[in-house]
Amino acid sequence: MALDASTFLITMVKRIGLTDQDKTLLKANADWGKEIAPEMADHFYAYLGNDPEMNAILNSTEDRIHRLRVTFVEWFYEMFTGMDDWGDAYADRRWRIGVVHVRIGIGPQHVVPAMATVVREVSKRLKTDNKSEALQDALSRICMIDLAFIEQAYVEVSSAAVLKETGWTEGLFKRLITTGASGV
Ligand code: HEM
Repeated sequence: MALDASTFLITMVKRIGLTDQDKTLLKANADWGKEIAPEMADHFYAYLGNDPEMNAILNSTEDRIHRLRVTFVEWFYEMFTGMDDWGDAYADRRWRIGVVHVRIGIGPQHVVPAMATVVREVSKRLKTDNKSEALQDALSRICMIDLAFIEQAYVEVSSAAVLKETGWTEGLFKRLITTGASGV
């Protein structure tokens, strides 16, 4: 079940509908993205900090929150630049972000509302700064692509761990899931 990050990105770009116009628009607003990134980080960590479970994760080591602010600002800016025009480097970076969250035990129930917070706070700032609806759409799409990476990493990494631990084949594992799901 090893995931090819580049292929996954291409599939998500198509499925979510991130167009070349979206990419051009994001790049044209990269400076604005950089400018508002620290404010978005403030909203993001205030939101996570209000949840006792996530707050405990955030503060489990002393320098974690500081490191996270830096990486969040980078992540946010990269959504505008696309790093290598949304190529292999972008895909690898997003995959690695996903894997980091799986390792810490952060699942979909944490990540989905967190990304919704980003989308909501960006929308507010877009309005304040009189930015176009087209930019809002492009940003929502790239946020959903990044979210898909974190969610998919959760499935891929946990499935791979089960296969490694049990020695089951991928076919058997998928059959067990299908059979199990039909009994729920
Ligand atoms: C919109 C969803 C999220 C985004 C975009 C995001 C972004 C990031 C990035 C860019 C990193 C650095 C990855 C690396 O080191 O390569 C990171 C790490 C991390 N994130 Fe998130 N994150 C999200 C959701 C969450 C949530 C919900 C939590 C819950 C507490 C969380 C907690 C952490 C922690 C603890 C680390 C590792 C920090 C460290 O010790 O280095 N993240 N995140």
